[in-house]
Amino acid sequence: MNPDEQFRDRMLSLGLARVSEAAALASARLIGRGDQTAADQAAVDAMRTQLNLLDIAGTVVIGEGERDEAPMLYIGESVGTGEGPIVDIALDPLEGTALTAKDMPNALTVIAMGPEGSMLRAPDVYMDKIAVGPGYPKDVVTLEMAPAERVRILARAKDCRPDEIAVCVLERERHRSMIEEIREVGASIRLITDGDVAAVIHCAEAEETGIDMYMGIGGAPEGVLAAAALKCMGGQMQGRLLFRNDSEIGRAKRAGIEDLDRIYSRDDLVNGHVIFAATGVTDGSVLRGIRRAGEFLESETILMRSKTGSVRRMLYRTPASPA
Ligand code: FBP
Repeated sequence: MNPDEQFRDRMLSLGLARVSEAAALASARLIGRGDQTAADQAAVDAMRTQLNLLDIAGTVVIGEGERDEAPMLYIGESVGTGEGPIVDIALDPLEGTALTAKDMPNALTVIAMGPEGSMLRAPDVYMDKIAVGPGYPKDVVTLEMAPAERVRILARAKDCRPDEIAVCVLERERHRSMIEEIREVGASIRLITDGDVAAVIHCAEAEETGIDMYMGIGGAPEGVLAAAALKCMGGQMQGRLLFRNDSEIGRAKRAGIEDLDRIYSRDDLVNGHVIFAATGVTDGSVLRGIRRAGEFLESETILMRSKTGSVRRMLYRTPASPA
């Protein structure tokens, strides 16, 4: 059986949702407490415990960092009972640690799973990214275009004016000139302080979120996770790794990356079928955050399979203090 056939994605998807839910519920206790490390740790612990209950022979390919810097869910760690299909796992137990600590919108727990070799083993460096939702011609906008050109071309493809295009950008000093250029051409910008996996997902649901395009520099691991989401929802993405020093280049080489300047398409980042789950920690425009409803806690999870393009939104309710 080839890895794609033995990947029982249909059966595994519910398990993946449970992993994501558990991480969100655990970190929710730390919303607004000002301690992003504790919030992240709670999510990591819960995610790992749940992952180890799954009948998979899993390897973390995108995780909390390299073995020497992450005690758990490090890149290369084996997870699962070891009894089922051989799978690769990309995860960010808490995407938006600062958002959680400050009780700001759009913190998520995120996990994707696919057959061995299905996702780029991206090192923990930066990535220049651009993403749009489904329905546009292939390569409608690219990393090689200047920001203003991307807006003009996308407006033409959408049959609207550039001032009707909304772009999401991480608010960082490094994006200052890009932001000016986007504004000069008339587009609006939704600036976010963190969380560019959610930002890319926004593009896939442009009607609801009002975001047409994401661009800018964020984490490379988050780039692979975002590509996994877009592979399920439809939409295009490009990413190029960026290196600040030799140690980052060394990281990429250790991860098996030879062409350091390569522009990766969505399907280069995620080249096989995957399943993807994300659960809201704080309220956001894609997912509701964890809520208390009387004696219960409620979570909302988006669970998707690229093979079928299915997107489920699941509400989960559990006693706030188990009997
Ligand atoms: P964490 O929650 O893991 O800290 O990451 C949040 C995040 O905003 C990502 O969404 C984004 O890709 C990255 O950090 C951007 O990095 P930086 O804060 O260094 O600009």
